[in-house]
Amino acid sequence: MTEPATARSCPFPADADRETHSTPVLLARAEQFAAQFDRIAKGRENPLNIVIEDTTGPVQAVINGRPTLMFGTNSYLGLNFHPDCIAAAVAAAQHYGTGSTASRVAAGNHRLHVQLEEEIAAFHRRSDAVVFSTGFMANLGVITALARKEDAIFADAHCHASIFDACRLSGAQVSTFRHNDAADLERLFTESDIASEQTLVIVEGLYSVRGDVGALAELAAVAKRRGAVFVVDEAHGLGVYGRNGRGVGEHLGVEDDIDVVVGTFSKSVGVIGGYAVSNTAALRALRFMARPYLYTASLPLPVVAAARAAIALIASDRHGLRASVWRNARQFHAGVSRLGLPLHSDAGPVGSIRLPGLAAGYAVWQGLLARGIYVNLLVPPATPDGEVVLRFSVSAAHKPQHIDAAISAFREVKDSVGLG
Ligand SMILES: Cc1ncc(COP(=O)(O)O)c(C=O)c1O
Repeated sequence: MTEPATARSCPFPADADRETHSTPVLLARAEQFAAQFDRIAKGRENPLNIVIEDTTGPVQAVINGRPTLMFGTNSYLGLNFHPDCIAAAVAAAQHYGTGSTASRVAAGNHRLHVQLEEEIAAFHRRSDAVVFSTGFMANLGVITALARKEDAIFADAHCHASIFDACRLSGAQVSTFRHNDAADLERLFTESDIASEQTLVIVEGLYSVRGDVGALAELAAVAKRRGAVFVVDEAHGLGVYGRNGRGVGEHLGVEDDIDVVVGTFSKSVGVIGGYAVSNTAALRALRFMARPYLYTASLPLPVVAAARAAIALIASDRHGLRASVWRNARQFHAGVSRLGLPLHSDAGPVGSIRLPGLAAGYAVWQGLLARGIYVNLLVPPATPDGEVVLRFSVSAAHKPQHIDAAISAFREVKDSVGLG
């Protein structure tokens, strides 16, 4: 997701009026922003406020009293319900309690955190790993610890909001290059006043709105030739891409060109947390310089235990979950393609369908929900190029009949709102 939805960057006009509002302008503007979706929803479900009444499986929930198939979570492997992960979390909660209650540098650095770091480093075949409390914080930590105001950062225009927030926070001179465009990255180096060796290039392995793969080989080639640091966020590719599930870098055979890989435990791993891995000794500096590492509570040990179990499952792939998610992704993609809906990318664990505006987008989203299918309705600035999209994700935990049900619902809704 590119940018967070903020009142400042919201696509709707802020017509809060100083003269007539008794509330301060800042509050009125925020209220107005929040009210936009209510107006579109006209008393029906608000996509930003959906309440999951019950979770009955990795891809099953109850919403509005109705059993609902989830095609809008990032549980790509279904590991949030794997018995090994649940058992590990339960045992850790019973033994260690529920929370860490301290940051890594203040009594929150447990043996289990260190083991998780060793295991994630070994999984990625890197010498070192640093674990954070979320993937968002991992991006903040890596980017702000490495880049300062005298440096430059070149980011792909489709990068996640956490990357852009990290770039801003670093104080470095930030420029974006056109999505996946190595020539445009080259242009930034040529035009920059800052030495290319003082530049950090950041991209993603798998982009989470359109579901397309990063052009890592071409972009890494430019970054390496210029002597820049090349960082890849593998949040969505982890567990799904590459023979060993290490992500798009492995899939494309370019891991050696990536200086730092950032990842998250909130998607395939099925818990919460983030990490950075690298072969450079510089990674150690994160433990002293990364404020999102220093100044927030460390991961609770039940989460750490479940993450360790999940990483072991991803590494062994003993249930063939990678093959399952890909089989399901292809079935889903083929079904949606047959309906003639405009897909953004080839088959993959996450992707999106372009919709002609917010009203049509809401109608499709709400129609699917009424039929027991949950997907994400995304609007600018969370999407590139000002588009309204339905973002879907597919899991190894889906059954073929779940996907058939989703495609039938898409067909009915498409006909009822005149799409395609
Ligand atoms: C590319 C990317 N990076 C980082 C994150 C943040 O991950 P987390 O949920 O662990 O904070 C996300 C979450 O959606 C993401 O898509």
